[in-house]
Amino acid sequence: MEIIADPLKMQAQALRWRARGVKVVLVPTMGFFHQGHLSLMEYGRTLGDKLVVSLFVNPTQFGPTEDYQQYPRGFDRDADMAAKVGVEVLYTPGVEAMYPSGYQTYVEVEHLSKGLCGAFRPGHFKGVATVVLKLFNQVQPQAAVFGEKDYQQLAIIRQMAADLNVPVDIVGRPIVREPDGLAMSSRNTYLNPEERGAALCLYRAILAARELVATGENSRTKILKAVKQMITQTPHTAIDYLALVDPKTLQEVEAVQGEARLALAVRVGKTRLIDNTLLTESRLCCV
Ligand code: PAJ
Repeated sequence: MEIIADPLKMQAQALRWRARGVKVVLVPTMGFFHQGHLSLMEYGRTLGDKLVVSLFVNPTQFGPTEDYQQYPRGFDRDADMAAKVGVEVLYTPGVEAMYPSGYQTYVEVEHLSKGLCGAFRPGHFKGVATVVLKLFNQVQPQAAVFGEKDYQQLAIIRQMAADLNVPVDIVGRPIVREPDGLAMSSRNTYLNPEERGAALCLYRAILAARELVATGENSRTKILKAVKQMITQTPHTAIDYLALVDPKTLQEVEAVQGEARLALAVRVGKTRLIDNTLLTESRLCCV
């Protein structure tokens, strides 16, 4: 596995591949890999000829009071894990190379960025959309793979690619969970044992919502009430939002008609966790 840190070197390599008709697939990450990241890499490998994984903890997507400095980092472990899944290039640009002094261009996906996490993390998705477009330009992939764990992020990147005519196929992949159901996340390492137990309430809430919908309940109020109860009865938790949204527009819906996404953001101790699930109206899922 080659490690490239210089954006110009990365782009030159990408352009050489492109000239030879080599199909490049990109998995953008901020590192500290877990099985969720690896599942994207494994799937990405099947989509093309060369798999590039970017590892860049992107400062522009962290708010001033957020965890940019503390964000877990472990380069050697990450490099070993990436090499084992057959990554061709681990692309690790530095902050100075990505945002040299005088940098001033940003991408904003206006409506999709407003609700859900966008309401609690101003500027976050502007940083995400900007860095992802830069990575696309540097790596020139034909396809890029993202996790549904960050469902709003995935929707925003799809919108950006469509709006700006970016010739990259955006591929979404399912959430990978711990055996007990907690969605894998680099931030789970912040949880102490007590908080790790409390964090399970997100998945329990998802199961409760799925169960309700499976038994024919469609009402937003009733579903969110059950979800809220599951969270508020758990110590060390504080809800940022619970939402039932249209899977494409991310606008709130009053009922599960066809398909809806339940999305939740909950702080457990000082750690902010997100999760989501697809809910399918029960009369549709069984025909
Ligand atoms: P990061 O949090 O490192 O996540 C990298 C990719 O892994 C994202 O597409 C994310 O959705 C996916 N992922 C994380 N946990 C997952 C899980 N449990 N199951 C499936 N996929 C999972 O998301 C980012 O980095 C950044 O915002 C980035 C897109 C790299 C831009 O900086």
